[in-house]
Amino acid sequence: MNKIQSLKIRRMEVSDIAPLANIEKQCFSRPWSAREFGHLIEKTDAYYLIAEVTDDHGARKVVGTAGMRIVCGEGDIDNVAVLPEFRNQGIASALIEGLLNAGREKGIEEFTLEVRVSNASAIRVYEKAGFVSEGIRPGFYEDPKEDANIMWIRKKDPAN
Ligand SMILES: CC(C)(COP(=O)(O)OP(=O)(O)OC[C@H]1O[C@@H](n2cnc3c(N)ncnc32)[C@H](O)[C@@H]1OP(=O)(O)O)[C@@H](O)C(=O)NCCC(=O)NCCS
Repeated sequence: MNKIQSLKIRRMEVSDIAPLANIEKQCFSRPWSAREFGHLIEKTDAYYLIAEVTDDHGARKVVGTAGMRIVCGEGDIDNVAVLPEFRNQGIASALIEGLLNAGREKGIEEFTLEVRVSNASAIRVYEKAGFVSEGIRPGFYEDPKEDANIMWIRKKDPAN
């Protein structure tokens, strides 16, 4: 594991596209391409964050990403990924917190995402952030085929 010295969460910029495509390849069986990330930067309903760390020599490196699309007033979170050698240091949790804060500043109160049912570390990250499992979508994922756990943060009922 590469221990991080400092962590910065910021909006995705054009210069991040190449490192993000590399992160995708290392994290997903069906990675998004640099071109797909390029399209996202132009979209007004998409909000993508990246995690940048600084090593002992002061060099900066993009090590993680998480995105949100605003669909019908809900925050739809996807593409949460952290390079393997930087995991278990709170980077994904910081990215999710950044997305939720940004969404809430825009008036969004409900957020959703899908996650492979076997992905215990991702589910842990989402539960810590307040997501609750609301059901299973059978056979949602390919490569390998697997069910999706559908998770939500719902609007707080003012009566409770
Ligand atoms: C899921 C992922 C983004 C998590 O990133 P991360 O930066 O390591 O996440 P964090 O450090 O914020 O939190 C990880 C949590 O999972 C826990 N964890 C790690 N391995 C675990 C396991 N096998 N079972 C249960 N929990 C586990 C850690 O202990 C930590 O919880 P804690 O803070 O309570 O100790 C990362 O593993 C990843 O990129 N995976 C590949 C891509 C992916 O699956 N993305 C999610 C798509 S929905």
